[in-house]
Amino acid sequence: ISLKNYNTFGIDVTAKRFISINSVYQLQQLLKTEKDIFLISGGSNMLLTKDIEKLVVHIDIKGISIDRENNNDIYITVNAGENWHDFVLWCVSNNYGGIENLSLIPGNVGTCPIQNIGAYGVEVKDTITKVVALEIESGKLVQFSNEECNFGYRNSIFKNELKGKFILTVVGFKLTKNSHILNTSYGAIETELVSKNIKKPTLKNISDAVIAIRKSKLPDPKEIGNSGSFFKNPVISKTLFLELQKEYPNIPNYPVISSEVEKHQARVKVPAGWLIEQAGFKGKRFGEFGVHEKQALVLVNYGNASGKDIYQLAQKIQETILDKFGITLEIEVNVIQ
Ligand code: EPU
Repeated sequence: ISLKNYNTFGIDVTAKRFISINSVYQLQQLLKTEKDIFLISGGSNMLLTKDIEKLVVHIDIKGISIDRENNNDIYITVNAGENWHDFVLWCVSNNYGGIENLSLIPGNVGTCPIQNIGAYGVEVKDTITKVVALEIESGKLVQFSNEECNFGYRNSIFKNELKGKFILTVVGFKLTKNSHILNTSYGAIETELVSKNIKKPTLKNISDAVIAIRKSKLPDPKEIGNSGSFFKNPVISKTLFLELQKEYPNIPNYPVISSEVEKHQARVKVPAGWLIEQAGFKGKRFGEFGVHEKQALVLVNYGNASGKDIYQLAQKIQETILDKFGITLEIEVNVIQ
């Protein structure tokens, strides 16, 4: 079958064999005979560059349950195949706070820990209590605590040591019932709230603000194929930053978030989107593919691009940025070659 509708980039490659899985039991049964599999969930963080020879296993396990709650907090367990944004909206409508800033991120709950999704001042790791995953080799379920997931900026143990070894089946969250704790520090959210004259924002107000900001900058995968940010924002040395600042006085920079401070002393994070825009790629279209016109960090498929086309463009961008700024851009999306 064609995988075009199973990846948000909308790349038309085929799977020789394909199975949709809707329970952990079914998955365990399958793993008894098939170990060499290709997993696909929301398909929102992958670039497929060729047909898939392995059995494609689509994780479609649904279900949300409340484990326990007290006056302040609620503990929720969510199965991997639940759509991320639907889960966020469900939390917002029930007044469970903590992930409203992560509204409208494509993909499923089961993949959100892998790259520790983050946006507008919040990372999902701050709400995750546990991840349950099935070990492919043994067929056993293993529970990981938040610490054991080794979360970092767009990173976790599941992208490193355990890559390809586990299938995430359940994610546990701790959310707050105290909606006074909101994260509105991100400039664009503040601006959005001010423009609506909202002084005491609710979770819904924050979620709506994020949805509005994302819609104004990021292409909707249903209309234009994409995988969100194609690159990570690079963290560079302070020395290089100061050099670049001489030449580009307006070079934007981010504070390196707390979890990374130790690892990146005297380092500065610069937006990859800015670098790519400076290099002249923003809004460039090459036939069926290109760089999004409103956010240079996003590569897009206008309809019939191949994964190879997009990967080549990514490599061209990497070379140009290295030449121009001396910075190596790391690809964030999982490129399947
Ligand atoms: N910028 C440009 N030109 C561009 C894009 C960005 O100059 O085309 C500069 C501007 O100075 C802008 C700054 O970059 O003020 C920041 O841009 P933006 O707020 O859009 O955020 P980002 O750093 O480009 C990151 C995440 C996004 C997330 C936003 C908001 C990464 C790799 N990307 O992008 O995540 O939504 O912050 O928090 O960290 C994703 O991972 O798929 C994703 C969309």
